[in-house]
Amino acid sequence: MKTLDDLWKAGKNFLNVDIPVMCGAMTWISESRLVAHVSNAGAFGCLAGGNMDPELLLQEIDDTKQLTNKPFAVNLITIAPNYKKQLDLINATKVPYIIFAGGIPKADEIQKAKLSGAKVLCFASTESIAKRMIDRGADALMLEGSEAGGHIGHVSLIILLQQILFEFPDFPIFVAGGIGTGRIIPHLLLMGAFGVQLGTLFVLSEECNVNPKFKQAFIRARARDAVATPQIGSELHVVAVRALRNKGMDQFADLQMRLIQSRKHGQISQEEAQFEVERYWVGALRRAAIEGDTETGSLMAGQSVGLAKEIKPIKNLLSDLIADAEKELKRIQEKLI
Ligand SMILES: Cc1cc2nc3c(=O)[nH]c(=O)nc-3n(C[C@H](O)[C@H](O)[C@H](O)COP(=O)(O)O)c2cc1C
Repeated sequence: MKTLDDLWKAGKNFLNVDIPVMCGAMTWISESRLVAHVSNAGAFGCLAGGNMDPELLLQEIDDTKQLTNKPFAVNLITIAPNYKKQLDLINATKVPYIIFAGGIPKADEIQKAKLSGAKVLCFASTESIAKRMIDRGADALMLEGSEAGGHIGHVSLIILLQQILFEFPDFPIFVAGGIGTGRIIPHLLLMGAFGVQLGTLFVLSEECNVNPKFKQAFIRARARDAVATPQIGSELHVVAVRALRNKGMDQFADLQMRLIQSRKHGQISQEEAQFEVERYWVGALRRAAIEGDTETGSLMAGQSVGLAKEIKPIKNLLSDLIADAEKELKRIQEKLI
């Protein structure tokens, strides 16, 4: 009989943890304390570097190291304004894992991160990006389905599993998007995943320091309330975001319309428009997550919000995931006899 420990052994070894469950980086939310709590509980925390100015990021890395001696990752967003400077600076800090998100990192950027001693994980949203990331030296891939919260790709996890996970059976691959119970975990591991990453569920951990109104909005929400922003027109390309439907989502639609008009009249470049969009999201997420403005702020959440109903300590969140995963694995094995 296989145990959960057998199934996720390779993930444990890769991340050097007891529980290869990653708490995905969440801008404004995944700061040093949350990361350390997750890692100290035996799972794997990811510091959200994306919007931080480089000095603050260095401070946060330092703080995380003070709070835990367990492994953790720094998540960098390749399209963020401070990305290049952040990458230069964090290489000297010897963080054990670096995760490239947001866009496609260049080969020399991946090499630079690896030379610092870090293991490198890269997001891959298509088979060809997966191949490119492996060729450029990524140590592992992160497949995140469009069910996830925050900035998302176009493809659901069930498709990415078939397009990428099944195609690269020997390569370390972690999966994210829509994981709201432990029951799904053994199925993903049996398909070949090394481990899983969750974001939405961790927002409802006691240790997550967001505004209580943000958590209450998650508890009330159903899966279908976590909607993706539509692409309006072909003049403006924006990365979609999944968040709970509210006035803020309507305001974003207005911003998109305004930017489309500016693009049409040649008043703004695609790059400037994308920066404006990103500024909107960073500010809107801060308003909701930190200030508690759940009406016009951005309540970024995945569809797994429909499965997340309780605030609990990280320790219990993880032990519940594991208990459910073990129960499900037993059920699978009984079915196979
Ligand atoms: C509020 C919020 C903010 C997020 N910010 C980031 C981010 O800064 N960088 C990143 O790579 N992913 C970000 N994500 C994605 C998570 O790290 C994770 O991959 C995702 O939440 C997994 O899907 P789930 O929400 O269904 O669990 C964010 C997700 C949420 C809910």
